[in-house]
Amino acid sequence: MDVISVIRTKRDRGRLSDEQIDWVIDAYTKGQVADEQMSALAMAILLNGMDRAEIARWTAAMIASGERMDFSSLPRPTADKHSTGGVGDKITLPLAPLVAACGAAVPQLSGRGLGHTGGTLDKLESIPGWRALLSNDEMMGVLRDVGAVICAAGDGLAPADKKLYALRDVTGTVEAIPLIASSIMSKKIAEGTGSLVLDVKVGSGAFMKNREDAAELARTMVGLGTDHGVKTVALLTDMSTPLGLTAGNALEVRESVEVLAGGGPADVVELTLALAREMLDAAGLKDADPAKALRDGSAMDHWRRMISAQGGDPDATLPVAREQHVVTASASGVLTGLDAYAVGVAAWRLGAGRARKEDPVQAGAGIEMHAKPGDSVTAGQPLLTLHTDTPERFDYALQALEGGVTISPSGTEFKPQPIVLERIA
Ligand code: URA
Repeated sequence: MDVISVIRTKRDRGRLSDEQIDWVIDAYTKGQVADEQMSALAMAILLNGMDRAEIARWTAAMIASGERMDFSSLPRPTADKHSTGGVGDKITLPLAPLVAACGAAVPQLSGRGLGHTGGTLDKLESIPGWRALLSNDEMMGVLRDVGAVICAAGDGLAPADKKLYALRDVTGTVEAIPLIASSIMSKKIAEGTGSLVLDVKVGSGAFMKNREDAAELARTMVGLGTDHGVKTVALLTDMSTPLGLTAGNALEVRESVEVLAGGGPADVVELTLALAREMLDAAGLKDADPAKALRDGSAMDHWRRMISAQGGDPDATLPVAREQHVVTASASGVLTGLDAYAVGVAAWRLGAGRARKEDPVQAGAGIEMHAKPGDSVTAGQPLLTLHTDTPERFDYALQALEGGVTISPSGTEFKPQPIVLERIA
Protein backbone atom coordinates (compact mmCIF):
# COMPACT_ATOMS: atom_id res chain seq x y z
CA MET A 1 0.00 0.00 0.00
CA ASP A 2 1.27 3.51 -0.65
CA VAL A 3 0.01 6.74 0.82
CA ILE A 4 -0.26 8.60 -2.47
CA SER A 5 -2.85 6.15 -3.76
CA VAL A 6 -4.83 6.59 -0.54
CA ILE A 7 -4.73 10.38 -0.90
CA ARG A 8 -5.74 10.09 -4.57
CA THR A 9 -8.71 7.88 -3.73
CA LYS A 10 -10.18 10.49 -1.41
CA ARG A 11 -9.08 13.43 -3.57
CA ASP A 12 -11.06 11.86 -6.42
CA ARG A 13 -14.13 11.42 -4.17
CA GLY A 14 -13.69 7.67 -3.79
CA ARG A 15 -14.43 5.47 -0.79
CA LEU A 16 -11.48 4.42 1.32
CA SER A 17 -11.38 0.65 1.79
CA ASP A 18 -11.01 -0.88 5.25
CA GLU A 19 -7.46 -1.93 4.29
CA GLN A 20 -6.53 1.58 3.17
CA ILE A 21 -7.87 3.07 6.41
CA ASP A 22 -6.18 0.54 8.68
CA TRP A 23 -2.92 0.92 6.81
CA VAL A 24 -2.80 4.73 6.68
CA ILE A 25 -3.67 5.19 10.38
CA ASP A 26 -1.09 2.60 11.42
CA ALA A 27 1.61 3.99 9.13
CA TYR A 28 0.97 7.59 10.25
CA THR A 29 1.12 6.58 13.91
CA LYS A 30 4.46 4.87 13.28
CA GLY A 31 5.85 7.89 11.43
CA GLN A 32 5.91 6.10 8.06
CA VAL A 33 3.45 8.60 6.57
CA ALA A 34 4.69 12.18 6.75
CA ASP A 35 2.73 15.08 8.25
CA GLU A 36 2.38 16.74 4.83
CA GLN A 37 0.87 13.56 3.39
CA MET A 38 -1.59 13.20 6.25
CA SER A 39 -2.46 16.91 5.87
CA ALA A 40 -3.32 16.30 2.24
CA LEU A 41 -5.49 13.32 3.16
CA ALA A 42 -7.19 15.27 5.97
CA MET A 43 -7.96 18.07 3.51
CA ALA A 44 -9.35 15.59 0.98
CA ILE A 45 -11.57 14.12 3.72
CA LEU A 46 -12.70 17.60 4.75
CA LEU A 47 -13.62 18.44 1.16
CA ASN A 48 -15.08 15.12 0.05
CA GLY A 49 -16.39 13.53 3.26
CA MET A 50 -16.65 9.92 4.39
CA ASP A 51 -19.66 7.65 4.69
CA ARG A 52 -20.74 6.14 8.03
CA ALA A 53 -18.89 2.87 7.39
CA GLU A 54 -15.65 4.71 6.57
CA ILE A 55 -16.02 6.82 9.74
CA ALA A 56 -16.63 3.70 11.84
CA ARG A 57 -13.53 2.01 10.40
CA TRP A 58 -11.40 5.18 10.78
CA THR A 59 -12.52 5.43 14.41
CA ALA A 60 -11.78 1.74 15.06
CA ALA A 61 -8.32 2.15 13.50
CA MET A 62 -7.59 5.16 15.74
CA ILE A 63 -8.71 3.17 18.80
CA ALA A 64 -6.52 0.24 17.69
CA SER A 65 -3.52 2.59 17.33
CA GLY A 66 -3.07 2.45 21.10
CA GLU A 67 -4.12 0.93 24.38
CA ARG A 68 -7.56 0.81 26.01
CA MET A 69 -8.25 1.73 29.58
CA ASP A 70 -10.51 -0.08 32.00
CA PHE A 71 -12.34 1.52 34.89
CA SER A 72 -14.32 -1.54 35.88
CA SER A 73 -12.41 -1.83 39.17
CA LEU A 74 -13.77 1.54 40.36
CA PRO A 75 -16.56 1.37 42.95
CA ARG A 76 -18.54 4.15 41.19
CA PRO A 77 -20.16 4.30 37.74
CA THR A 78 -18.11 6.29 35.23
CA ALA A 79 -19.49 9.26 33.32
CA ASP A 80 -17.65 11.55 30.96
CA LYS A 81 -18.54 14.50 28.77
CA HIS A 82 -16.91 15.95 25.72
CA SER A 83 -17.50 19.26 24.03
CA THR A 84 -16.88 19.70 20.33
CA GLY A 85 -15.24 23.01 21.21
CA GLY A 86 -16.39 26.56 21.65
CA VAL A 87 -15.46 30.02 22.86
CA GLY A 88 -15.50 30.60 26.59
CA ASP A 89 -16.39 26.92 27.03
CA LYS A 90 -14.97 26.29 30.48
CA ILE A 91 -17.78 23.90 31.45
CA THR A 92 -15.52 20.88 32.08
CA LEU A 93 -13.84 22.73 34.96
CA PRO A 94 -16.87 23.04 37.23
CA LEU A 95 -18.66 20.01 35.76
CA ALA A 96 -16.14 17.25 36.54
CA PRO A 97 -15.88 17.97 40.29
CA LEU A 98 -19.63 18.63 40.46
CA VAL A 99 -20.54 15.25 38.99
CA ALA A 100 -17.95 13.57 41.23
CA ALA A 101 -19.55 15.28 44.23
CA CYS A 102 -22.83 13.63 43.18
CA GLY A 103 -21.36 10.12 43.20
CA ALA A 104 -20.02 9.33 39.72
CA ALA A 105 -16.39 8.82 38.71
CA VAL A 106 -15.38 11.32 36.01
CA PRO A 107 -12.29 10.35 33.99
CA GLN A 108 -12.10 13.53 31.96
CA LEU A 109 -9.39 13.16 29.31
CA SER A 110 -9.17 16.57 27.77
CA GLY A 111 -7.41 18.38 24.97
CA ARG A 112 -5.65 21.59 24.18
CA GLY A 113 -6.96 24.53 22.19
CA LEU A 114 -7.93 23.77 18.63
CA GLY A 115 -8.16 26.68 16.19
CA HIS A 116 -10.06 29.58 17.74
CA THR A 117 -11.50 27.36 20.51
CA GLY A 118 -9.90 27.10 23.93
CA GLY A 119 -8.59 23.88 25.42
CA THR A 120 -9.34 22.59 28.91
CA LEU A 121 -5.72 21.61 29.57
CA ASP A 122 -4.42 25.02 28.49
CA LYS A 123 -6.87 26.61 30.92
CA LEU A 124 -5.97 24.42 33.88
CA GLU A 125 -2.25 24.83 33.24
CA SER A 126 -2.64 28.46 34.25
CA ILE A 127 -3.01 27.19 37.84
CA PRO A 128 0.51 27.20 39.31
CA GLY A 129 1.86 23.66 39.71
CA TRP A 130 -1.06 21.87 38.04
CA ARG A 131 0.00 18.92 35.88
CA ALA A 132 -1.94 17.70 32.84
CA LEU A 133 0.32 14.71 32.27
CA LEU A 134 -0.40 11.84 34.63
CA SER A 135 0.62 8.22 34.39
CA ASN A 136 -2.26 5.74 34.19
CA ASP A 137 -1.62 4.79 37.82
CA GLU A 138 -1.71 8.43 38.94
CA MET A 139 -4.91 8.99 37.00
CA MET A 140 -6.58 5.97 38.61
CA GLY A 141 -5.36 7.16 42.01
CA VAL A 142 -6.94 10.61 41.61
CA LEU A 143 -10.15 9.04 40.31
CA ARG A 144 -10.32 6.66 43.25
CA ASP A 145 -9.52 9.35 45.86
CA VAL A 146 -11.40 12.35 44.48
CA GLY A 147 -13.85 10.91 41.95
CA ALA A 148 -12.77 13.29 39.18
CA VAL A 149 -9.60 13.76 37.18
CA ILE A 150 -8.97 16.09 34.25
CA CYS A 151 -5.81 15.20 32.38
CA ALA A 152 -4.19 14.71 29.00
CA ALA A 153 -4.80 11.37 27.35
CA GLY A 154 -1.63 9.32 27.94
CA ASP A 155 0.64 8.78 24.95
CA GLY A 156 -0.68 5.25 24.69
CA LEU A 157 -4.34 6.24 24.21
CA ALA A 158 -5.39 6.77 20.57
CA PRO A 159 -1.92 8.05 19.60
CA ALA A 160 -3.11 8.42 16.01
CA ASP A 161 -5.57 11.07 17.16
CA LYS A 162 -2.93 12.86 19.19
CA LYS A 163 -0.80 13.38 16.07
CA LEU A 164 -3.69 14.11 13.77
CA TYR A 165 -5.38 16.55 16.17
CA ALA A 166 -2.24 18.70 16.40
CA LEU A 167 -1.81 18.55 12.62
CA ARG A 168 -5.42 19.54 11.88
CA ASP A 169 -5.14 22.50 14.21
CA VAL A 170 -2.52 24.09 11.96
CA THR A 171 -3.67 22.95 8.52
CA GLY A 172 -7.25 24.24 8.36
CA THR A 173 -8.66 20.72 8.57
CA VAL A 174 -10.59 20.85 11.81
CA GLU A 175 -14.14 21.45 10.58
CA ALA A 176 -14.93 18.03 9.10
CA ILE A 177 -17.65 15.82 10.59
CA PRO A 178 -15.77 12.53 9.94
CA LEU A 179 -12.57 13.88 11.48
CA ILE A 180 -14.23 15.47 14.51
CA ALA A 181 -16.45 12.46 15.20
CA SER A 182 -13.61 9.94 14.93
CA SER A 183 -11.23 12.13 16.92
CA ILE A 184 -13.59 12.52 19.84
CA MET A 185 -15.05 9.04 19.86
CA SER A 186 -11.75 7.18 19.43
CA LYS A 187 -10.45 8.82 22.61
CA LYS A 188 -13.64 8.31 24.55
CA ILE A 189 -14.10 4.68 23.54
CA ALA A 190 -10.43 3.84 24.18
CA GLU A 191 -10.72 5.58 27.55
CA GLY A 192 -13.35 3.05 28.58
CA THR A 193 -16.00 5.31 30.11
CA GLY A 194 -19.34 3.59 30.74
CA SER A 195 -21.38 6.59 29.68
CA LEU A 196 -20.72 9.73 27.69
CA VAL A 197 -22.52 13.03 27.25
CA LEU A 198 -21.55 15.02 24.18
CA ASP A 199 -21.91 18.77 24.11
CA VAL A 200 -22.19 19.48 20.40
CA LYS A 201 -21.81 23.19 19.81
CA VAL A 202 -23.72 25.06 17.08
CA GLY A 203 -23.10 28.58 15.85
CA SER A 204 -20.40 30.93 14.66
CA GLY A 205 -17.97 29.98 17.45
CA ALA A 206 -18.41 26.25 16.89
CA PHE A 207 -16.87 24.07 14.22
CA MET A 208 -20.44 23.28 13.12
CA LYS A 209 -22.00 26.57 12.06
CA ASN A 210 -25.51 25.30 11.41
CA ARG A 211 -27.98 23.07 13.20
CA GLU A 212 -28.17 20.38 10.49
CA ASP A 213 -24.40 19.80 10.49
CA ALA A 214 -24.30 19.77 14.29
CA ALA A 215 -27.16 17.26 14.43
CA GLU A 216 -25.38 15.08 11.85
CA LEU A 217 -22.18 15.22 13.92
CA ALA A 218 -24.14 14.38 17.07
CA ARG A 219 -25.94 11.44 15.43
CA THR A 220 -22.64 10.14 14.02
CA MET A 221 -20.99 10.23 17.45
CA VAL A 222 -23.97 8.79 19.31
CA GLY A 223 -24.00 5.94 16.76
CA LEU A 224 -20.26 5.28 17.20
CA GLY A 225 -20.56 5.27 21.00
CA THR A 226 -23.63 3.04 21.04
CA ASP A 227 -21.98 0.55 18.65
CA HIS A 228 -19.08 0.27 21.10
CA GLY A 229 -21.32 -0.27 24.15
CA VAL A 230 -20.93 3.24 25.59
CA LYS A 231 -24.23 4.83 26.71
CA THR A 232 -24.00 8.03 24.66
CA VAL A 233 -26.26 11.10 24.63
CA ALA A 234 -25.69 14.43 22.87
CA LEU A 235 -26.97 17.91 23.60
CA LEU A 236 -26.83 20.48 20.81
CA THR A 237 -25.99 23.75 22.52
CA ASP A 238 -25.75 27.34 21.38
CA MET A 239 -22.34 28.76 20.46
CA SER A 240 -23.42 31.89 18.60
CA THR A 241 -22.08 33.99 21.46
CA PRO A 242 -19.35 33.09 23.97
CA LEU A 243 -20.28 31.16 27.09
CA GLY A 244 -20.02 33.26 30.21
CA LEU A 245 -18.06 36.48 30.43
CA THR A 246 -14.51 35.30 29.77
CA ALA A 247 -12.52 33.67 26.95
CA GLY A 248 -8.91 32.83 27.74
CA ASN A 249 -7.06 30.47 30.01
CA ALA A 250 -6.65 31.93 33.52
CA LEU A 251 -9.67 34.18 32.97
CA GLU A 252 -11.85 31.11 32.47
CA VAL A 253 -10.43 29.32 35.50
CA ARG A 254 -11.41 32.31 37.60
CA GLU A 255 -14.97 32.22 36.25
CA SER A 256 -15.23 28.46 36.80
CA VAL A 257 -14.27 28.91 40.44
CA GLU A 258 -17.05 31.51 40.74
CA VAL A 259 -19.52 28.89 39.48
CA LEU A 260 -18.21 26.34 41.98
CA ALA A 261 -18.63 28.94 44.70
CA GLY A 262 -22.35 29.15 43.86
CA GLY A 263 -22.14 32.28 41.61
CA GLY A 264 -20.95 32.83 38.05
CA PRO A 265 -22.76 33.77 34.85
CA ALA A 266 -26.25 32.30 34.44
CA ASP A 267 -25.52 30.62 31.08
CA VAL A 268 -22.46 28.79 32.44
CA VAL A 269 -24.42 27.61 35.48
CA GLU A 270 -27.37 26.50 33.33
CA LEU A 271 -25.25 24.47 30.92
CA THR A 272 -23.13 22.98 33.71
CA LEU A 273 -26.28 21.76 35.46
CA ALA A 274 -27.90 20.48 32.25
CA LEU A 275 -24.81 18.42 31.39
CA ALA A 276 -24.41 17.25 34.99
CA ARG A 277 -28.00 15.96 35.02
CA GLU A 278 -27.43 14.08 31.75
CA MET A 279 -24.19 12.55 33.03
CA LEU A 280 -25.75 11.48 36.32
CA ASP A 281 -28.76 10.07 34.54
CA ALA A 282 -26.57 8.11 32.10
CA ALA A 283 -24.54 6.79 35.05
CA GLY A 284 -27.72 5.59 36.77
CA LEU A 285 -27.57 8.24 39.53
CA LYS A 286 -31.00 9.70 38.84
CA ASP A 287 -31.62 10.95 42.39
CA ALA A 288 -28.48 13.07 42.69
CA ASP A 289 -29.01 16.84 42.96
CA PRO A 290 -26.20 18.78 41.25
CA ALA A 291 -27.73 22.19 42.07
CA LYS A 292 -27.46 21.29 45.76
CA ALA A 293 -23.82 20.21 45.31
CA LEU A 294 -23.05 23.67 43.91
CA ARG A 295 -24.89 25.36 46.79
CA ASP A 296 -23.54 23.29 49.66
CA GLY A 297 -19.86 23.55 48.72
CA SER A 298 -19.32 19.87 47.98
CA ALA A 299 -18.53 20.56 44.30
CA MET A 300 -15.99 23.19 45.37
CA ASP A 301 -14.48 20.75 47.84
CA HIS A 302 -14.02 18.18 45.03
CA TRP A 303 -12.47 20.86 42.78
CA ARG A 304 -9.91 21.80 45.43
CA ARG A 305 -9.00 18.17 46.06
CA MET A 306 -8.76 17.42 42.34
CA ILE A 307 -6.49 20.43 41.67
CA SER A 308 -4.25 19.61 44.66
CA ALA A 309 -4.03 15.93 43.68
CA GLN A 310 -2.61 17.04 40.34
CA GLY A 311 0.03 19.28 41.91
CA GLY A 312 -1.90 22.54 41.64
CA ASP A 313 -2.49 25.10 44.35
CA PRO A 314 -6.21 25.92 44.41
CA ASP A 315 -5.46 29.07 46.45
CA ALA A 316 -2.71 30.39 44.17
CA THR A 317 -3.11 33.76 42.50
CA LEU A 318 -3.83 33.18 38.84
CA PRO A 319 -1.58 34.79 36.22
CA VAL A 320 -2.69 38.17 34.88
CA ALA A 321 -1.56 39.43 31.47
CA ARG A 322 0.87 42.35 31.48
CA GLU A 323 -1.25 44.65 29.27
CA GLN A 324 -4.94 45.48 28.96
CA HIS A 325 -6.96 47.36 26.35
CA VAL A 326 -10.57 48.35 26.90
CA VAL A 327 -13.09 48.38 24.04
CA THR A 328 -16.01 50.70 24.75
CA ALA A 329 -19.57 50.79 23.39
CA SER A 330 -19.74 52.93 20.24
CA ALA A 331 -23.38 53.88 20.91
CA SER A 332 -26.14 53.57 23.50
CA GLY A 333 -28.74 50.89 22.97
CA VAL A 334 -29.15 47.15 23.32
CA LEU A 335 -26.28 44.76 22.72
CA THR A 336 -27.90 42.41 20.21
CA GLY A 337 -24.80 40.59 19.00
CA LEU A 338 -21.48 39.49 20.45
CA ASP A 339 -20.15 37.03 17.94
CA ALA A 340 -18.49 33.96 19.38
CA TYR A 341 -16.14 33.44 16.43
CA ALA A 342 -14.95 37.06 16.49
CA VAL A 343 -14.26 36.86 20.23
CA GLY A 344 -12.59 33.44 19.86
CA VAL A 345 -10.26 34.60 17.09
CA ALA A 346 -9.44 37.80 18.99
CA ALA A 347 -8.61 35.83 22.16
CA TRP A 348 -6.50 33.43 20.11
CA ARG A 349 -4.64 36.35 18.48
CA LEU A 350 -4.00 37.86 21.92
CA GLY A 351 -2.11 34.68 22.79
CA ALA A 352 -4.73 32.43 24.40
CA GLY A 353 -4.31 29.89 21.56
CA ARG A 354 -1.49 28.76 19.32
CA ALA A 355 -0.62 29.45 15.68
CA ARG A 356 1.82 26.52 15.36
CA LYS A 357 1.46 23.24 17.17
CA GLU A 358 4.66 23.74 19.17
CA ASP A 359 3.70 27.27 20.34
CA PRO A 360 3.10 27.94 24.05
CA VAL A 361 -0.07 29.76 25.09
CA GLN A 362 -0.19 32.81 27.34
CA ALA A 363 -1.92 31.99 30.63
CA GLY A 364 -3.26 35.50 31.17
CA ALA A 365 -4.28 36.32 27.59
CA GLY A 366 -7.91 36.55 26.54
CA ILE A 367 -11.03 38.66 26.68
CA GLU A 368 -13.32 39.70 29.49
CA MET A 369 -16.83 40.66 28.42
CA HIS A 370 -18.69 43.28 30.43
CA ALA A 371 -22.07 42.79 28.77
CA LYS A 372 -24.03 39.92 27.27
CA PRO A 373 -26.45 40.03 24.33
CA GLY A 374 -29.72 41.47 25.58
CA ASP A 375 -28.06 43.93 27.98
CA SER A 376 -28.61 47.68 27.65
CA VAL A 377 -25.37 49.58 27.08
CA THR A 378 -24.41 53.24 27.19
CA ALA A 379 -22.03 54.87 24.70
CA GLY A 380 -18.51 54.88 26.12
CA GLN A 381 -19.05 52.14 28.70
CA PRO A 382 -16.50 49.31 28.72
CA LEU A 383 -17.72 46.36 26.65
CA LEU A 384 -14.63 44.19 26.46
CA THR A 385 -11.22 44.13 28.12
CA LEU A 386 -8.49 42.57 26.02
CA HIS A 387 -5.57 40.97 27.91
CA THR A 388 -2.15 40.02 26.54
CA ASP A 389 1.54 39.93 27.43
CA THR A 390 2.33 41.09 23.89
CA PRO A 391 0.60 44.46 23.29
CA GLU A 392 1.70 44.53 19.66
CA ARG A 393 -1.10 42.00 19.18
CA PHE A 394 -3.88 44.41 20.18
CA ASP A 395 -4.44 45.76 16.66
CA TYR A 396 -4.55 42.29 15.17
CA ALA A 397 -7.07 41.18 17.82
CA LEU A 398 -9.18 44.32 17.32
CA GLN A 399 -9.38 43.55 13.60
CA ALA A 400 -10.93 40.19 14.48
CA LEU A 401 -13.59 41.96 16.53
CA GLU A 402 -14.64 44.25 13.67
CA GLY A 403 -18.31 43.56 12.95
CA GLY A 404 -18.48 41.18 15.89
CA VAL A 405 -20.30 43.57 18.22
CA THR A 406 -23.80 44.78 17.32
CA ILE A 407 -25.58 47.53 19.25
CA SER A 408 -29.19 48.18 18.22
CA PRO A 409 -31.37 51.16 19.15
CA SER A 410 -32.80 51.19 22.69
CA GLY A 411 -36.11 49.37 22.86
CA THR A 412 -35.09 46.81 20.22
CA GLU A 413 -36.57 43.50 21.24
CA PHE A 414 -33.94 40.83 21.79
CA LYS A 415 -34.88 37.16 21.89
CA PRO A 416 -32.05 35.13 23.44
CA GLN A 417 -31.28 31.68 22.03
CA PRO A 418 -31.91 28.87 24.50
CA ILE A 419 -28.61 27.33 25.62
CA VAL A 420 -29.74 23.75 25.04
CA LEU A 421 -31.24 23.47 21.55
CA GLU A 422 -31.88 19.74 21.19
CA ARG A 423 -31.17 16.38 22.78
CA ILE A 424 -30.07 13.46 20.59
CA ALA A 425 -29.91 9.95 22.06
N1 URA B 1 -12.39 17.89 19.91
C1 URA B 1 -11.66 16.79 19.61
O1 URA B 1 -11.25 16.03 20.48
N2 URA B 1 -11.41 16.56 18.33
C2 URA B 1 -11.84 17.35 17.33
O2 URA B 1 -11.59 17.05 16.21
C3 URA B 1 -12.60 18.50 17.65
C4 URA B 1 -12.87 18.75 18.97
